[in-house]
This record gives sequence, structure tokens and C-alpha cells, in this order.
Amino acid sequence: MTEVRIARWDADDLDLLRRLNAPEIRDHTGGPETDEQVVARHERYVRGPGPRSGHMFTVVLPDGRKVGSVGYWERVWHGEPVYEMGWAILPAHQGRGLATAAVLATVSDARARGQHRWAHAYPSVDNPASNGVCRKAGFTLLGPTEFEYPPGRLMRSNDWRFDLTAPH
Ligand SMILES: CC(C)(COP(=O)(O)OP(=O)(O)OC[C@H]1O[C@@H](n2cnc3c(N)ncnc32)[C@H](O)[C@@H]1OP(=O)(O)O)[C@@H](O)C(=O)NCCC(=O)NCCS
Repeated sequence: MTEVRIARWDADDLDLLRRLNAPEIRDHTGGPETDEQVVARHERYVRGPGPRSGHMFTVVLPDGRKVGSVGYWERVWHGEPVYEMGWAILPAHQGRGLATAAVLATVSDARARGQHRWAHAYPSVDNPASNGVCRKAGFTLLGPTEFEYPPGRLMRSNDWRFDLTAPH
């Protein structure tokens, strides 16, 4: 198992979020944001659960380096409250199973909260890495869907779902 841990997003993590705001990382999620948007996003992440934020974590290597973000937040999906999950890993650290391990740790956190049965992820159909993370982490593919992200823009995504109440 890949050694990785997740740590609650904190005030020192703005630099990491700036590094994650690169064109190659934001390619499937609307492109890079302005620095003002990144700072506002960071402040929401630090504040914790609330509108458009949620439970956000950094992905931390055994030597303490922070190499990614992962988290979950509430949304309504087909009339039912669920969690949505999202993740990103710095390019130099991709392809080593870090996202999958971080997602599994985040699923455990959501499960322990005991609030919702379903966690969903909606990677673009043309994002093989993120669809690979869903598959490897044990999500079930429900099929393609039209998903609005960023707000006002529809994209063709896969709807993946994880049962937080299933025995593990
Ligand atoms: C998606 C992302 C977080 C994956 O990070 P990662 O740490 O490289 O992922 P993992 O190493 O855990 O890979 C998990 C599986 O995904 C697949 N995968 C990973 N990168 C892939 C790629 N570039 N092409 C095809 N499949 C890929 C692999 O099948 C891998 O399984 P394997 O170990 O059996 O080969 C990373 O590519 C990223 O930050 N992308 C930009 C941000 C993004 O798109 N976020 C998701 C928005 S929904």
C-alpha cells in the first residue's frame, strides 16, 4: 500500500493550492483560476464545511512534503443529498498510486462521519487518470452524465459512486 496520509487543509497551504492551479492539472476542470480565485478557494478550504467548500485535505508524503489535494463536500444529486469528491496531485508525483491511497483515506473520513450513504465523483469522460482513480479506489461506474462544472458550463462526465455503508 502506498504510504500517504491526509491532513486537514490549513492556513499554510496556499502555496500548494497555487502550484495545483497549473494548466495541466486544471485541464479537465475549467482551466487555471485567477490568483484572487485561488486565495478565495484557499480561505474556504481553511474555514471548512460550508457553501462550495467542504472537508478538504492535503496529501502528505512520509517525509512531510505536501503534493496534492483531496476532499469531499455536500451536494444534491437526483434530489438526494450526497457527497461529491475531488482530487489533484502535482505532476511530478503522479502515477505512483498517491491519489488512490489519498482517496481511500478520505472515503474513511466521510464514512466515519456517517451522514450520507453515497459519495460520487464526476470526472470528465476524457480524463483517464481520474477515471482510473475511481476504478482503483472501488467506485462503481453508473455511466455518463451531463455535469455542470465550472458553473454555467456543461461537461460530459462519468458518474461514479461509492457506498459508504458497505462492509469494508
Ligand atoms: C487524477 C490524478 C489525481 C491521478 O493522480 P495519480 O496519483 O497519478 O493517480 P494513481 O497513481 O493513484 O492512479 C490510479 C489509476 O489511474 C490510472 N491512471 C493514472 N494516470 C493515468 C493516465 N495518465 N492515463 C491513464 N490512466 C491513468 C491508472 O490506471 C492507475 O491505476 P494502475 O495503478 O492500475 O495503473 C492526477 O492525474 C491529477 O492531478 N490530474 C489533474 C486533476 C484532475 O483531473 N482531478 C480530477 C478532477 S475529477
